[in-house]
Amino acid sequence: MNYFEYRNDQLYAEDVPIADLARRINTPFFVYSARTLRRHFRVFDEAFAGTDHLVCYAMKALSNLSILKLFASMGAGFDIVSVGELMRCLRIGADPRKIVFSGVGKTDEEIAAALEAGILMINVESRPELHRVAEVAGRMKHRAPVSLRVNPDLDPGTHPHISTGHRDSKFGVPLSQVDEYYAEASALAQLEIVGLSTHIGSQITEMAPFAEAGRKVAAIVGRLRSAGIALKYLDLGGGLGIPYQEQPPLPSEYARALLKPVAGLGLKIITEPGRVMVGNAGVFVTRVLYNKETDVKRFVVIDGAMNDLIRPVLYQAYHAIVPVDRRMPGKTVTADIVGPVCESGDFFAREREMAEPAEGDLLAVMSAGAYGFVMSSNYNSRPRAPEVIVDGAEVHVIRERESFEDLIRGEHIVSLKPA
Ligand code: LLP
Repeated sequence: MNYFEYRNDQLYAEDVPIADLARRINTPFFVYSARTLRRHFRVFDEAFAGTDHLVCYAMKALSNLSILKLFASMGAGFDIVSVGELMRCLRIGADPRKIVFSGVGKTDEEIAAALEAGILMINVESRPELHRVAEVAGRMKHRAPVSLRVNPDLDPGTHPHISTGHRDSKFGVPLSQVDEYYAEASALAQLEIVGLSTHIGSQITEMAPFAEAGRKVAAIVGRLRSAGIALKYLDLGGGLGIPYQEQPPLPSEYARALLKPVAGLGLKIITEPGRVMVGNAGVFVTRVLYNKETDVKRFVVIDGAMNDLIRPVLYQAYHAIVPVDRRMPGKTVTADIVGPVCESGDFFAREREMAEPAEGDLLAVMSAGAYGFVMSSNYNSRPRAPEVIVDGAEVHVIRERESFEDLIRGEHIVSLKPA
């Protein structure tokens, strides 16, 4: 469900025609819908009503400060994976007691910053990290609240690059060693063991893997309890898919299946949704530069590129691409929609059937809110695109288009001798 809809064959973001935005700020750009963001958070949060829970938005999916502030104002906590993300939270005045810190490679500085801020818990992913957290906490004379991230060893049935719950993956503590880890952690006075966490992957469209992970972690919690280790939090991660093309379960179905194996444990349930909060709340708007025909193929060359949205080439991801003005559909063609970057991997779609656009037409790449802007780069010295949010008829630019000066910030020209 989102608020990007056609009115009189013009694509709108809420009450604003996207063509107007393009005139105002030029292309390419990302536009988000505040109403959609609010709705997604509310629907997800309400799916867990009746259970003591905390939704920690996985801000890696989209971390613009205005969007974080909106979610925080609705009661969200945050799942962070770097000190940069921590600073974003602090900048918008988020409650540190609602922040969980995930990731396999936290540096001493990051651990210290998290402890200094007083976050809810650090999700530890390896034995050396466990000791490192204890050491840093000891130096700071803090007691570090930790949870262990368990790798439940299962196949979430998603793209290998975004699958994390299999035993081959770098994430989490192996299932076979979890009990040992907890025993070891409980012997470290600088640590306060508060939870257990897991996250099995992303864009998961079946409930079975979530239920399996739930059953596995419930069994661990039971064993720990018998061993005298009582936890407060059970962090079940994120990963619920969105309808790019497929039909994932609704948040209510997801919550029901997720909670079933763990509801009786009496722990506070934490979730870390990212994509489902923001994916369909954002669109990438781009303009057609050229229609190009070779002997064998047709290309629609646009002004957006893989530096703006890397998902198609990185994950073979499907994004619907629609005309902003669909009044005069051209003939249907099958084309590759490609950007100006000098790589064959610079495509948004391959062999896509579409109404033949004219040069200058606007296209909207749908479901670009999650892992869109945040994964963008300056490759080919392309400035990163601006981000705009629409709220009803209001329009706010929440990130400016980068300038050439932004592109070279921090670079130094040194005079190196030619020989
Ligand atoms: N928690 C942890 C520990 C994670 O690693 C992730 C995502 C999430 C939560 C949020 O997962 P979500 O609800 O968004 O599925 N760039 C890829 C997705 C990478 C996901 C990384 N981890 C893509 O564009 O598909």
